[in-house]
Amino acid sequence: LFAGAADFYAAAQTLDRLPPMEGVEIAFAGRSNVGKSSLINALTGRNTLARTSHTPGRTQQLNFFRIGERLSLVDMPGYGYAAVEKAKVEAWTRLIHAYLKGRSNLARVFMLIDARHGFKSIDTDVLDGLDKAAVSYQVVLTKGDSLKKGEVASRIAGIEAGLAKRPAAFPQVILTSSRDDSGVPELRAAIAKLLVE
Ligand code: GTP
Ligand code: MG
Repeated sequence: LFAGAADFYAAAQTLDRLPPMEGVEIAFAGRSNVGKSSLINALTGRNTLARTSHTPGRTQQLNFFRIGERLSLVDMPGYGYAAVEKAKVEAWTRLIHAYLKGRSNLARVFMLIDARHGFKSIDTDVLDGLDKAAVSYQVVLTKGDSLKKGEVASRIAGIEAGLAKRPAAFPQVILTSSRDDSGVPELRAAIAKLLVE
């Protein structure tokens, strides 16, 4: 699946620009700078497919990438970045909420959480919204390379405990790094499984 071509095919800054609901979509959500675009690049093996940046707020629209015949990966604008104008944040928030709730071909949302920081209150607010709307999501920890070996087990256990009472959460957490590609095969396998369900 990931060995073949991956291509950008649509971008939406407003609801009326969303591409038609076709195939299976998987969205990548999370705080600004958490590593959404980098992880899409790691998954596809294409370092310049999704635009990444050291500065938060890089991705400012929903970007759609087609993998193979019927899979789309959706790179979302990050949330929680204070330096973006309020009006822009409100517009993104409306777009993201409308997208997440109204997309019948959205198989799962990968909720990216920085492995060093765990859940921030803004993350739990977003999870509350997904639980309420019954949008299925799975937590993916990013930047695993920056965690000390001894910290890994307790960080994952803490995250899993935080998910236990969340109805829309998939219980398994995947630890990844776009820098050393750890966890990337596991994430690909999770995606492949969604395609056959
Ligand atoms: P927005 O589009 O602004 O919401 O950000 P994003 O979530 O798409 O993050 P992006 O992929 O642009 O990466 C943000 C920064 O984190 C960049 O400086 C990346 O190099 C860095 N980064 C991403 N993934 C990793 C990782 O696995 N390990 C480390 N150490 N840094 C990473
Ligand atoms: Mg991005």
